[in-house]
Amino acid sequence: MIICHKKEELRHVLDGLRLEKQTLGFVPTMGALHEGHLSLIDKGLQENTKIVVSIFVNPTQFDNTTDLKKYPRTLENDIELLQSFSESIIVYAPTVEDIYGDAIISEVFDFDGLEHQMEGKFRKGHFNGVGTIVKRLFEIVKPDHAYFGEKDFQQLRIIQKLVEKHDLNVKVIGCDIYRADDGLAMSSRNQRLTKAHRKAAPFIYQTLKAAKVRFGTENANEVVQWVEEQFDTQNLLSLEYFTIADELSLKPIEIKQNTESYRAFIAVFAGDIRLIDNIALN
Ligand code: PAJ
Repeated sequence: MIICHKKEELRHVLDGLRLEKQTLGFVPTMGALHEGHLSLIDKGLQENTKIVVSIFVNPTQFDNTTDLKKYPRTLENDIELLQSFSESIIVYAPTVEDIYGDAIISEVFDFDGLEHQMEGKFRKGHFNGVGTIVKRLFEIVKPDHAYFGEKDFQQLRIIQKLVEKHDLNVKVIGCDIYRADDGLAMSSRNQRLTKAHRKAAPFIYQTLKAAKVRFGTENANEVVQWVEEQFDTQNLLSLEYFTIADELSLKPIEIKQNTESYRAFIAVFAGDIRLIDNIALN
């Protein structure tokens, strides 16, 4: 497995591949890899000859410096895991300097309003940071296909918009949410949960599934109210938002129309760990 820490090294490796006319997949990550990440890599390996996996905790997408400091960094383990997973992986694990030089700042993007919904309301500047890093990584890697998880559905929609608005030559592919056996969506943050919070956390997905059933017969605002009431009974989980939105515009819905696709989105604090999840409603 090839491991590059500098963009020049990576470019050199990738130029060689392009001469051999191989298709290149790309899975950007912030490391602390788990089965969710591996499911993206697996899909990429089925559709490409080689996969670049980037591992970079991107400072510009954190609105909270404590969260950035505490974000798990497990590069050695990550590399070991990838090594045992496939020979066809190229790891790009750059330093902050390699990506940003000495100007650690975000570009400002207009994602046609997608950036103002949900996560955008609670994490100021987050999507400018995500847009900045993903655009830069796309420019460095120049992949044919790039894989993003529906776990971060709003991020996936924003990357699709980034590609559309900047006319980037890459096909963005959304991948299913990978869950633990008890339903909790896999996340690098899960490893920071206390035992008690980890035990409580599957309630999030259980509630999403029950909300989906209710959405069959109830109005969106009734379902929202019901979910809020469910979280009032939880001592260890605190609801930040639950929203039912149009899958394309991500705008919260007022009245259901049978022609549109909807999704429910949730953010919950389990202690000081923030967990997000979502579910397709139709
Ligand atoms: P990170 O949280 O490491 O996630 C990397 C990719 O893995 C994202 O596309 C995310 O949606 C996907 N992913 C995480 N958990 C998943 C799960 N349980 N099931 C399916 N996919 C899952 O998202 C980021 O990093 C960053 O914002 C990044 C795009 C790398 C930019 O810095």
